Amino acid sequence: MKLGVFGRGRLGRALRDVAGDAIAWQVGRDASQRADLAPVDVLVDVSIGAALDEHLEFALARETPLVIGTTGWSMPDLDRRVGSRIGVLVAPNFSLTIAFLTRLVRLMGRFAMQDESADVFIAEHHHARKKDAPSGTAKVFAQALLESCPKKTRWTMAPAERALAQDELCVSVLRGGHTASSHDITVDTPGEAITLTHAARDLSPYARGALDAAHWIRGRSGVFTMADVAAERLDPLFAAGK
Ligand SMILES: NC(=O)c1ccc[n+]([C@@H]2O[C@H](COP(=O)([O-])OP(=O)(O)OC[C@H]3O[C@@H](n4cnc5c(N)ncnc54)[C@H](OP(=O)(O)O)[C@@H]3O)[C@@H](O)[C@H]2O)c1
Repeated sequence: MKLGVFGRGRLGRALRDVAGDAIAWQVGRDASQRADLAPVDVLVDVSIGAALDEHLEFALARETPLVIGTTGWSMPDLDRRVGSRIGVLVAPNFSLTIAFLTRLVRLMGRFAMQDESADVFIAEHHHARKKDAPSGTAKVFAQALLESCPKKTRWTMAPAERALAQDELCVSVLRGGHTASSHDITVDTPGEAITLTHAARDLSPYARGALDAAHWIRGRSGVFTMADVAAERLDPLFAAGK
């Protein structure tokens, strides 16, 4: 399998370490030579949200599957644009561990629904150079909580000049230092609290996950998420735990 990679920053370099010769080309923000890029089996975007539209058009024009690892974008018409023309995998977090944790977060949300006094919230911490906030992963956890704990109807970063409304899910963001990525998800009642923590020490789990994702999307059409990729490995685990 030959890969074309948009992005040669921290995650792009980690992907190169893992994928080696499978990467046919890897480009940054200089778009001048895009037309000359060789055909590949799968495109991987690990660049910046602002460039995604252009990269999606490139993938559609080349009829090449696209794995989107980039965060900090919103494209409400993604499904319509993609249709069944190519396969697109949206993966704001490539780690299988995060896919596993997302399922646990859903359980936490359901658990919090059983106790009127229970609150849920998320805290995330990333290195100072991260450009978007909250992280794409925090948004995945927030969405899982909104769906499993409907007493929360929307997420918000802590509002500066008012108290949090009861139906608001707080996503707290810390930027600084060198932490690759850290997320805490808490269920909190007056008497006790549970916190699940995920800490990434480096980008290697994401780079390996990106490679797995690129293999998975080949031969598929439509829009998918990492939950689809992880289902094969996680479904048996959760079925066994019932
Ligand atoms: N899915 C996951 O598991 C996961 C994990 C970690 C990070 N991420 C996300 O992956 C993305 C990249 O992270 P990173 O830490 O590697 O970032 P980074 O080190 O800042 O690298 C960003 C890359 O994007 C390129 N770029 C910047 N502006 C561009 C533009 N206008 N058009 C095209 N390319 C442009 C840069 O080009 P130059 O090389 O020319 O500067 C660089 O290669 C971020 O969105 C981050 O949140 C995802």
